[in-house]
Amino acid sequence: MRDMPIAISHNYSLREHNTFGLEAKARQFIDYNSVEELVEILSILRDSGEPILHIGGGSNLLFTRDFEGTILHSCIKFIEEVSHDDQEVVVRVGSGVKWDEFCAEMARRNYYGSENLSYIPGEVGASAIQNIGAYGVEVESIIQQVETIEVLSGEPRVFDKSECEYGYRDSIFKNRLQGKYIVTAVVYRLSTVPVVHLDYGPLQQLRSHEGVPTAQEVRDAVIAIRQSKLPEPDELGSAGSFFKNPVVPVEVFRQIAASYTDVPHYVISEDEIKIPAAWLIDQCGWKGKRHGGAAVYEKQPLILVNKDHATPADIMELATLIEQSVLEKFNIQLSPEVNYI
Ligand code: EPU
Repeated sequence: MRDMPIAISHNYSLREHNTFGLEAKARQFIDYNSVEELVEILSILRDSGEPILHIGGGSNLLFTRDFEGTILHSCIKFIEEVSHDDQEVVVRVGSGVKWDEFCAEMARRNYYGSENLSYIPGEVGASAIQNIGAYGVEVESIIQQVETIEVLSGEPRVFDKSECEYGYRDSIFKNRLQGKYIVTAVVYRLSTVPVVHLDYGPLQQLRSHEGVPTAQEVRDAVIAIRQSKLPEPDELGSAGSFFKNPVVPVEVFRQIAASYTDVPHYVISEDEIKIPAAWLIDQCGWKGKRHGGAAVYEKQPLILVNKDHATPADIMELATLIEQSVLEKFNIQLSPEVNYI
């Protein structure tokens, strides 16, 4: 049993828990430190019928109002090697570890697999829910298992990667099982021999490198790209990409390509093409535009920023205006990557 009582904060400001830096409050907020503590908290909350929201680093959230319930946040922090051979290493990581601290540690040990995902804000638990991705890699490629607790029963359940139904920024935890399981740890499988993904434009320069670059060298290059394109969370509030890149039927793409011969695109299948939302938004002239305290980031129009004391309404209205103009001009409906709470 624990010696310390569970620390519950009331009428708690969420400003430090969302990277947009929006002011909203939770009726109760609980940081827990272990699976045992989480199970105990859930049993108490279950009896009171309390609404529950579990958050990670708040890097993908838009608080639209105060939360009239209890917000839970994991402080389960460990990084342990489960096995290690001459090809692979299996590493089990607590859900409350900062994602980039994990990436930094893997690069330091020269394990390959997470380096392209360096510097993404957020925490390990959310990485497995959101299937975070960048520079040609999605986290599902290194996930082996996801350890969870079922909210209703408090029972543990381990999901094999094959059960997680991963897709582009998508998983079973965002769909069918949304809110039903809380991730407590993620088991990753990384490579102890060099395996690099350098297809993304600016990373290609590492190909001319003598020998294969180290995981640390790839990580450093990724961080440099991110710092040049994306706002620093400490300096300018945002939630990274606000919209997903839309996947459209090939006919829709052909209609656009008839007028815009240089439309960037990625072929997903025979029938489907992905078009960068940043390009669509840019073509509609949104770069740098402001709406109240919110704005479209000048260097990457897929990112909405809290320029000057933005309210949730400023951001939501700006997002709607952008959606409307992309729909009008290109007949494509954008959908937010950010979760509205
Ligand atoms: N583009 C423009 N104008 C701009 C910027 C970009 O037209 O001002 C076009 C360019 O054609 C460019 C294309 O958009 O080639 C794609 O831009 P970028 O390479 O910056 O990537 P993205 O598709 O906008 C995605 C992820 C990012 C991830 C990058 C790199 C999504 C929703 N976003 O952005 O993820 O870092 O690729 O892999 O898939 C995030 O999810 O929060 C995030 C930042």
